[in-house]
Order: sequence, then structure tokens, then C-alpha cells
Amino acid sequence: MSGIERVNGELLVDGLALSDIAKTHGTPLYVYSRDLLESNWKAFDRAFDAVPHRVCYAVKANSNLAVLSVLAKLGSSFDIVSGGELKRVLAAGAPANRVVFSGVGKTTSEMVEALNANILCFNIESVAEATRLAQVAKAQGKVAPVSFRINPDVDAQTHPYISTGLKENKFGISMEEAREAYRQAQDHPNLSVCGIDCHIGSQLTSVEPYEAAFERMLAMVDQLSEDGITLSHIDFGGGQGIQYDDETPLDIVEFANAAIAAVGSRPLEIWMEPGRAIAGPAGVLVTRVEYLKENSEKAFAVIDGAMNDLIRPALYSAWQPIVPVIEQDRTARVYDVVGPVCESADFLGKDRELAIEAGDYLAVLASGAYAFVMSSNYNTRGRAAEILVSDAQAHVVRQRESVESLFALESTV
Ligand code: LLP
Repeated sequence: MSGIERVNGELLVDGLALSDIAKTHGTPLYVYSRDLLESNWKAFDRAFDAVPHRVCYAVKANSNLAVLSVLAKLGSSFDIVSGGELKRVLAAGAPANRVVFSGVGKTTSEMVEALNANILCFNIESVAEATRLAQVAKAQGKVAPVSFRINPDVDAQTHPYISTGLKENKFGISMEEAREAYRQAQDHPNLSVCGIDCHIGSQLTSVEPYEAAFERMLAMVDQLSEDGITLSHIDFGGGQGIQYDDETPLDIVEFANAAIAAVGSRPLEIWMEPGRAIAGPAGVLVTRVEYLKENSEKAFAVIDGAMNDLIRPALYSAWQPIVPVIEQDRTARVYDVVGPVCESADFLGKDRELAIEAGDYLAVLASGAYAFVMSSNYNTRGRAAEILVSDAQAHVVRQRESVESLFALESTV
């Protein structure tokens, strides 16, 4: 038995009963399926099998060392956005020459670290950043491999906070600026131009916005080649959407075929940076119902998980499935599922039909990406423990934070 499935009314993760895991390790608790992490990564790898390619897992989606090491063992490359993520990838046992460094605000010290580690590529987002990187590389006696992140000005048709490919967004450089930026980079002895990249947004469920971006990027590639600048790879970014509610997830094979067709016979390795599509469906957040309460308007299920554990509903009005860990034969009613944090935004779901009692476990599905990593200590709540199910065992891959650790760096005066 693999993946996250319900058998005889019980939710299982890779064959283990989620209720047993929760009883042993307490709640709120993140639980990940190694089988799903692996099969989700392999779906990308297989879809691009016919061409030279590189799947660079976007570390920001879920950066737990165990998750990174599982993917590293499959041969994954990694897309990072900070010096911290570089250290994590290395600590997880992946080689630096499988690391692509994205992000709009790399600092000098992050550049130095990445250059000294000999990473695979810097995805550069502005002319100012290219100038800084050239200076830093010169000072370090290094040649930095670079790609420019193009902002193709296409509408990803997703939530405005996670849409990144429009001119109004802070990301990338415009098509107009790019040609000159490449010329300057090509001429600099401490920069080695190797690729072009883009990332137009996250949770895309249709291939059309990608196709628009592919077309623009390849027009750029051809223009550069006329200028005598030859690239060895094209990076189409992440953003591949998953199923939370009734949306159809992006078809990875359709995405791959469109990318492969767009590249055609050009001798370019195809890179991609999926995060959510690999980690998202592989995780659940388990919480326990503390109290049921109601007023004249509404019924509430007060749970022990909160916005500090999972902020997506509060931040993006994101909808994630909330289901009982063990289905019971009871009458259902409609609840707002809320946490103990003192904010009205502290809900994980609204108007959910649930047949529950106090003490029951609830699972928030599709919580493997942008969930634990975005959690905080608001209200002096220790962050949840994380479990990875692997080889029929529930491994604690991050301990629950103790309250003492939360103020260990503080002092009184
Ligand atoms: N590459 C770059 C340059 C990115 O900025 C991102 C995500 C990815 C790859 C991976 O995208 P993915 O395949 O995971 O969609 N916190 C938000 C999502 C923010 C995404 C930021 N960038 C959420 O919870 O929906």
C-alpha cells in the first residue's frame, strides 16, 4: 500500500494508519509519504525522458532535510532561493553542482557562498544583480555560470500573490532589456552565459500560459543566437498545479510535450523547477478537534492546528480538503474549522461538512508544500513535528519545537 489512501474508513500513509502516527507523535503533525514524493518527482523525469533534461526541485516548497535527501537519491537537482537553502541541500547530501540559485535579491555573501560551492547556475533577475555577481566572481577568482530570468509578460491566471510573470511583478527582466543584458554578460570574463529561465507563477492548472511563455522565451533564444550567444539550457520554471478542490491538476505529460515541441531541434537541455507538484500531494497536516461550539450564526470546530501551522487559507484564501482521519457513522453538520490563535483569519477551512466529535483527528490534505515551511511561532506556539513514512516506518524528521527553544535566543534586560 502506498500513497495517502482511505481503507475501511481509515486514512493510511504508505500503509500506516495516520491515527496511530498521530497518537504516538501528537498533533498538530505533518506526515509525508516517501512513495508519493518519489512518484511525483519521477512523473517529471519520465515525461521528459526523450530529451536531455533536469528536474530541479524547488526547495522552498518543503525544505525538510529528509525530503531533500529522498529526492537527492533519485538524482534530483535543486532550485534554491537563499544561502540557507544552499546549506540545507548540501546538508541533505546533494552535490552543489546540482544547484540552481534563483531569487530576486541575492546578497553578496550568498553569492560568495554559492560561487565557492561551485553551484550549477545563477538565475539572474536584473542587470544590477548581474553587475554585482560579476564583481563578486572577479574578487573570488571565479567564473559564474549565469542564466537570465525573463519576465515574458504572460498572465498565469492564478492567485495574484503567486503570479510572477507579468510586467507589474518584481520578477525577472523584460524581453527588451534581456538582449542587452546578455550581450554585456557575454563580454564579461567572470560570467559564463549558459541559459535562460522563467517562472510565471504557481498553481497553474492549464498549459496555455506556459505555451505563451515557451514561445516568447524561444524567440529570445533565437535572437540571442543571431547575436552569437549560444545557450546550453532553457529553464521553464515551476508552477505546475495540483488538486486541492475540484480543479484538474496540470497534466505533466501535456506540459512536457508542449515544452519539448517548443524547443524543437534546438540543442537545449530542458530544465524545470517544480515544487508544489512534487511535495504538495505527498503531505497531510493532522490536527485534533479540541472543542465544538456554536452561536446563533455558525458552528465551529476548534482544533489544535492554527494559522501559524498552515497559513495558506488565511493568506491566500486557499481551500484545502479537511477530512476525518477515521470516518465515523455520525450525523454531519457544517463547521468553520478554526484554530486557537487570536485572529479571525485563524481558520483552516470554512463551511465544511463534517461528522465529528471533540477528540477526533482531522487531516488537512495536500499539505506537503508551502505548509510547514511557512509556519511560524505566532502566539508562542512551537512548530509542529514532521514525520516521513518510509519503509513502513514513521520517522520523526523534525522534532516538535519546545516552548523553551522559542525564547532561547532572547534575554531580559
Ligand atoms: N521557481 C521559482 C523561481 C519560484 O519562485 C517558485 C515558487 C518555484 C520555482 C516553484 O513553484 P511551484 O512549482 O511550487 O509552484 N506560497 C505559495 C506559493 C509560492 C510560490 C513561490 N515561487 C502558496 O502557498 O501557494
